[in-house]
Amino acid sequence: MTQKVDKIYLVGFMGAGKSSVAQCLEAKTKWSALDIDALTVERMGSPIAPFFKKYGEAHFRQMERGALLSILDVRHVVVATGGGAFIGVENSHLMLCDGLVVWLDVPLPVISRRLEHERDIRPLARDEVAMAAFYEKRRSFYEKAHVRIDATKSPEDVANRIQRVWLNCL
Ligand code: S3P
Repeated sequence: MTQKVDKIYLVGFMGAGKSSVAQCLEAKTKWSALDIDALTVERMGSPIAPFFKKYGEAHFRQMERGALLSILDVRHVVVATGGGAFIGVENSHLMLCDGLVVWLDVPLPVISRRLEHERDIRPLARDEVAMAAFYEKRRSFYEKAHVRIDATKSPEDVANRIQRVWLNCL
């Protein structure tokens, strides 16, 4: 990242707090928060779980990439991404070139606790064993982010730390 930071992408596993932290950062940056999951749902015209069931993950990823591409021109925004959006060279490269990418890192046991009552809306969180496997696999992608933040604390605390990083980039 050599250019001026006018966009922040929050990446990380399901349950890392990306959407909540993006909301907290709205006030701190005076930018707007965008949510790739919400934009994808809008484009699909369906919630994620039934779409996954009917059309499969590959089709969901196409819609998710469409949502990502649709906001490329938008500046002064904090973008909460879905847990799989940064996985894959094309998407990760796109985000790394477009803004400051911040990885919200949370240990798996904390993630599991946070997702306990949300497994119905997250199709990839239903099988705990499979989830542990792709948690490990995905870390090698998340590690490409410009910044890693320990996101075990509250969204407000995480947002404060990201704000300090952002202020240093101005
Ligand atoms: C996914 C994470 C979800 C959502 C979809 C797939 C993933 O977003 O995009 O269920 O592959 O990790 P959150 O990270 O907001 O839960």
